[in-house]
Amino acid sequence: MKNNKLFLQTLNGEITDKIPFWYMRQAGRYLPEYMEKRKTAGSFLDLCYAPDFAVEVTLQPLRRYQMDAAILFSDILVVPHALGQHLEFRQGEGPVLTPVNTADKINRLGMEGFHEHLAPVYETVRRLHKEIPETTTLIGFAGAPWTVATYMVAGHGSTDQAATRAMAYQDEAAFQRLIDLLVVSTSEYLCRQIKQGAEVIQLFDTWAGNLPDDQFRKWAIEPVRKIIQNIRAVYPDTPIIGFPKGAGCRYPEYIHATGVSAVSIDTTMPLEWVRDHIQPLCPVQGNLDPLLLVAGGEMMENRVKEILDCLGKGAFIFNLGHGIVPQTPPENVARVSEILRNYKK
Ligand code: CP3
Repeated sequence: MKNNKLFLQTLNGEITDKIPFWYMRQAGRYLPEYMEKRKTAGSFLDLCYAPDFAVEVTLQPLRRYQMDAAILFSDILVVPHALGQHLEFRQGEGPVLTPVNTADKINRLGMEGFHEHLAPVYETVRRLHKEIPETTTLIGFAGAPWTVATYMVAGHGSTDQAATRAMAYQDEAAFQRLIDLLVVSTSEYLCRQIKQGAEVIQLFDTWAGNLPDDQFRKWAIEPVRKIIQNIRAVYPDTPIIGFPKGAGCRYPEYIHATGVSAVSIDTTMPLEWVRDHIQPLCPVQGNLDPLLLVAGGEMMENRVKEILDCLGKGAFIFNLGHGIVPQTPPENVARVSEILRNYKK
């Protein structure tokens, strides 16, 4: 099937003369118009479940920068919320959940009412599918089971994920049940997003990099392999981008073993190594340091050009190596977007 969307062409491995781009966390607090909307919407979680707001804030960055893709405005933690876990986003504190760290507590979670709870998210996708410009691709997403589990078990974010890594060793059977529940629920959640119009899926595994290699296979590769298999059984043609942040030299194994269509690479990945060892395997997305987008100026512009010159000859989507941070000046995002729009291979 011929497609006129640059982003989808690149994901299909076609070599085009322009490079598609979007930014992880492209909607959010660095945009004054987001902060304005956010004031009227109540809590962040309310915003995720209010299609009018979620549609509007998804579209906000597109109006400014004309990215090639729009990403559904939601959060990876709506899945544990829909499975029955208590969740709050406190101002300045990030997510706070009631920890699910014993077999008993895991057994109390379940999929009863799951899709009803997430109906507003599906409605947001349905509306976005109709409202985005016709050359823009709509991305649906979920957290990968390992990353979502790190929040569920600890009850909050952490830099070392120690509580969850320990549980995976100390009570492997119970932890496996939690991961299995996330595999099933996330597969269904993503199939519903595709049904409502998501054209590409991205799986965020922000905390995959801290796992030793045997644990990486068990908790970062295996659950993602199953989710991809489940989605492809229903939607064989929807591209799926994996983002196992911090996977380093394990990216090639991740690609082979999970069957992802493309990978997003984090800021630490050496560009030449990516060009020689990852790009021959699948299309690549990445990897400008979000803090260069804060700093701006010549340093930022030079790095953008380095990335384009190194990876732009193969199937490549320009993005960041992690999400935009709130202190980012919008004019720096405008400058990078201008460079990208004017770039010719
Ligand atoms: O524009 C987009 O990228 C779409 C929306 C999106 C959000 N979160 C909105 C959000 C996406 C794709 C996510 C993914 C997400 N959420 C991840 C994986 C990617 C990553 O950044 O590592 C993770 C780990 C989360 C969990 C999460 N959500 C945390 C730890 C926090 C608090 C830290 C923070 O950045 O505030 C959130 C809150 C969150 N998710 C906000 C937004 C816009 C900020 C909430 C606010 O407006 O106050």
